[in-house]
Amino acid sequence: MTEHLSMTHDTPILVRASLDADVTAMLEIYRHHICHGVGDLGAYQPTPFEEDDLKARRKSMKKHKLPHVVAEIDGLVAGYAYAVPFRKRPAYRFTVKHSIYVHPDRLHIGVGRALLPALIDACAAAGFRQMIGYIDSTNATSLKLHESCGFRQVGYLPAVALRFGAWADTVMVQRGIGDADAPVVRTIGAG
Ligand SMILES: CC(C)(COP(=O)(O)OP(=O)(O)OC[C@H]1O[C@@H](n2cnc3c(N)ncnc32)[C@H](O)[C@@H]1OP(=O)(O)O)[C@@H](O)C(=O)NCCC(=O)NCCS
Repeated sequence: MTEHLSMTHDTPILVRASLDADVTAMLEIYRHHICHGVGDLGAYQPTPFEEDDLKARRKSMKKHKLPHVVAEIDGLVAGYAYAVPFRKRPAYRFTVKHSIYVHPDRLHIGVGRALLPALIDACAAAGFRQMIGYIDSTNATSLKLHESCGFRQVGYLPAVALRFGAWADTVMVQRGIGDADAPVVRTIGAG
């Protein structure tokens, strides 16, 4: 992918493809958010996600041309984002769903705003046409971020998650990318 350099609050943010060397930092960010409310499952303890798991996932994503990007501030990982297939069946091969996590010390300073457009560009460059995100209905920052980046709400899933002992709603957002508006051509096939 092309590297993106942007400025926020006078801080330069570099967005680039992730490396194996970023795995430890990415896991720290992920574990923080799992323990503090995003993607958590309340009292349920998920299987620990280890470095080797993430390395294997990155390798597989690279093989399938699925973007996995990090944002860097002062040489340190400030956040990361990636896309995975929306569904496994071949008919859905032009659609991805994505995740984005910013370092707890770097929240709300524009890192997400740097990461998400870079991920969108990388997904479009890889030939995908639709991106889908699932956002907790109380996550105002993520909802705003996605709205600013051209996503629109396409679904509302009530009480689909159990978080801290309460049922939580999820907002489904979507946007077309790349050739989303182009008609189907013979080479694509119906899948
Ligand atoms: C959601 C998340 C990725 C957003 O990234 P961020 O770097 O914190 O957000 P940014 O500073 O780039 O701000 C994104 C937008 O939200 C707005 N925003 C920032 N803080 C906000 C807040 N507390 N409340 C509402 N909106 C807020 C910004 O103004 C910006 O809007 P704009 O794009 O119109 O300028 C990040 O907060 C995060 O990792 N949160 C925990 C994990 C998570 O929720 N992941 C997403 C799961 S769907």
